[in-house]
Amino acid sequence: MTAYTDILVDTPKPGVRLITLNRPKVLNALRSTLLEELAAAIALARDDTDVRAVVLTGNERAFAAGADIAEMADRTAVEVVGMDRRMAGWHTLRSFPKPLVAAVNGFALGGGCELAMCADIIVAGEGARFGQPEINLGLIPGAGGTQRLTRAVGKSRAMKMVLTGEAIDARAALAAGLIAEIVPPELALDRALELAEMIAAKPPVAVRLAKEAVLKAQEMTLEAGLDYERKVFALLFATEDRREGVQAFLEKRKPVFKGR
Ligand code: HXC
Repeated sequence: MTAYTDILVDTPKPGVRLITLNRPKVLNALRSTLLEELAAAIALARDDTDVRAVVLTGNERAFAAGADIAEMADRTAVEVVGMDRRMAGWHTLRSFPKPLVAAVNGFALGGGCELAMCADIIVAGEGARFGQPEINLGLIPGAGGTQRLTRAVGKSRAMKMVLTGEAIDARAALAAGLIAEIVPPELALDRALELAEMIAAKPPVAVRLAKEAVLKAQEMTLEAGLDYERKVFALLFATEDRREGVQAFLEKRKPVFKGR
């Protein structure tokens, strides 16, 4: 397997790839190397038909405390505009077609919060903190914090977080709809892996199209979204897995999905 310095990659359960951010000394600050490795690992997971879902996590203190402030200290605007590889990395994460579950403990700040928001489902340990503190550095969020956060939690709460830089705790994040579940911190990864394993056992074509359809809801008008959903629904009638799922139900047995 590829050698990485800033992440760890594992396959702890059938069909489930686990990516662990691994710069604990700096709270998993997202330096360019880390983002490039993460994007490479995600691209491999995307292209590997054996991988059905990915779990992304950090450690007990931090999911990620944002962009690496030391690395970006001397950057010029021109350099930032020209950071095509970094932008391509974020694009790889955003456009990952398989389910991505984040297990978040500790800090998810700035780019770390934005990274968590690239996930389809966020499971947080009690004590997790989500925030967009870029304003304190004379910046604004640069990888979706003004857009994704606003869609996730609504204008007023997003404004409060982006303008004050104040983080919210896991309970507030759950109430706002930013995350799906809170569990004791030591169980966050297990729960994320459990969800990923459940999803990995589902019919992959339907999973992929379900993810796509839910994401479309953030971009389309309701009428266009309902139309899109209806067409994808009809399309799935052409799959072997749909036949198998229905047949297995009628025969009172477990379905065997083949991704066809
Ligand atoms: C570089 C960081 C870092 C970061 C923490 N560290 N966050 N290094 N970039 N984002 C380093 C610290 O310098 C320190 O190193 C070590 O990690 C431990 O951090 P402490 O500050 O000592 O820990 P603590 O007192 O517990 O405070 C935790 C913290 C604080 C509240 C999370 O570290 C903090 O405010 N970090 C910055 C958060 C932030 O502003 N993020 C947004 C970045 S901008 P040493 O060597 O001293 O032990 C951004 C833009 C995104 O994300 C754009 C798109 C990518």
